[in-house]
Amino acid sequence: MGLGVSVTALDDLARPGRYPRSSGYDPAWLVGLDMGPNPLWLLEDLAANLDLRPGMRVLDLGSGKGATSVFLAREYGVEVVAADWWIPAEDAAAVFAQAGVADRVTAVRAEAHVLPFEPESFDAIVSIDAFEYFGTADGYLPYLVRFLRPGGQLGMATPGMTREVRELGAIPDHIKAVVGWEAIAWHTLQWWRFQWEVTELVDVTSARLQEDAWQDWLLWARACAEQGPDAAKANQPVIDMLTQDGGEYLSFALVTARRR
Ligand SMILES: C[S@@+](CC[C@H](N)C(=O)[O-])C[C@H]1O[C@@H](n2cnc3c(N)ncnc32)[C@H](O)[C@@H]1O
Repeated sequence: MGLGVSVTALDDLARPGRYPRSSGYDPAWLVGLDMGPNPLWLLEDLAANLDLRPGMRVLDLGSGKGATSVFLAREYGVEVVAADWWIPAEDAAAVFAQAGVADRVTAVRAEAHVLPFEPESFDAIVSIDAFEYFGTADGYLPYLVRFLRPGGQLGMATPGMTREVRELGAIPDHIKAVVGWEAIAWHTLQWWRFQWEVTELVDVTSARLQEDAWQDWLLWARACAEQGPDAAKANQPVIDMLTQDGGEYLSFALVTARRR
């Protein structure tokens, strides 16, 4: 596979019992598109609370290198617009072409606050491990829902904590050592639910922490760490953070809603 990742670590990324759809994808392919914890596991889990049907038009917001957009097109037969800010559209488009979904997935370079789309042009908006970068301002949900048709669905998986940093009074040291102030955007489920519901623009249809999210994240970091010395160095702080945390604070928040 050319990545130098050990078979053992990659094998750990196939978990057919828990994530049967994700396990159909080559772990080496997925690790090669790494930008954060296993995005297919997060999406497969989140999608259990969404009603995605063939032919729907779906925005994958913060789609990164495109693994989730490939998954959406293949697994649910939807038409995907893959919008991302850091990754050039040509790079994502090459991933889609190689995966054989170029006819169903369009790559767009877009900043989440100035989206180049018509109002009410999507049946669903999905965002995996990206909302924490742009979606916590009070005005963001009201801005974003304008792109959903009435009744359209929103689904987000984002790093979340079991307690608000504000309530703790500080970012726990083992988390601060790795992600610094960024952890103030890792809100609790209760925070997200209130933030969305108080707008009266959406009905929250589910809000839960991913079961054993920190262990999934750890498996992923360990597999990525085996890509080589640089990857090992980059991933070790994350491994240490998760090991020390043991699920006390760190998780992933999965939240879905429908536009009224
Ligand atoms: C941790 S990566 C996750 C990428 C992908 N969803 C995945 O899980 O592999 C976060 C993504 O959020 C995107 N992002 C961050 N800030 C953004 C913004 N202001 N507008 C659009 N995308 C943004 C980045 O470009 C990046 O690809």
